[in-house]
Amino acid sequence: MTNPVDRLVQFAPMQVGDVPMVAELEKVAYAHPWTPGNLLDAVHHLNHAQLLLCDAGPRDVSPWRNTTGHLIMGYFVAMKGVDEVHLLNLTVAPAFRRQGWATLLLSALATWSRGQQATSLWLEVRQSNVGALALYERVGFKQVGVRKRYYPLKANAREDAVVMQLPLIP
Ligand SMILES: CC(C)(COP(=O)(O)OP(=O)(O)OC[C@H]1O[C@@H](n2cnc3c(N)ncnc32)[C@H](O)[C@@H]1OP(=O)(O)O)[C@@H](O)C(=O)NCCC(=O)NCCS
Repeated sequence: MTNPVDRLVQFAPMQVGDVPMVAELEKVAYAHPWTPGNLLDAVHHLNHAQLLLCDAGPRDVSPWRNTTGHLIMGYFVAMKGVDEVHLLNLTVAPAFRRQGWATLLLSALATWSRGQQATSLWLEVRQSNVGALALYERVGFKQVGVRKRYYPLKANAREDAVVMQLPLIP
């Protein structure tokens, strides 16, 4: 079991060289993963894309490493708007889930967003993603709308997106 408690945990900007590994992790995390092309767009187009990393130990089984050999614990991709920031992707590697790392990623994003003079954070989440909905509600996001048939499901089926907002208190 990977336990990073006594290791150095750090953020690092997602780099082009990290994209193949992140794309592999996407395949494990999502039924409809971002492609390497989606991730490259995120890295290139002024998005805020950050990896959460820790040092790898000899007994680590988690296969996702960045270009410097650190374990990829998770990441987010966010896009700045006029006075808001939109969270586009938030993922934690399976071995690190339910240990508070997504909460930390969201906290870091909120801090960065305030620094960009954003007054709110926005996101969409699949209606069926009960774990993510619970996480976002727990950190203070409120449901503010629904986008009908926003996400692909299977065959021609689509799934609604729940739109959530978090006001950012300066
Ligand atoms: C959703 C996800 C990011 C959560 O990451 P995480 O690091 O496990 O989240 P945290 O440990 O910070 O969770 C904080 C709280 O959120 C809630 N929560 C998180 N995951 C949950 C789950 N699967 N089921 C129910 N509640 C959950 C709990 O209240 C949890 O607190 P607790 O562990 O003390 O009960 C992670 O499961 C993941 O990457 N899933 C696949 C990708 C995904 O769905 N991303 C979100 C797309 S919108």
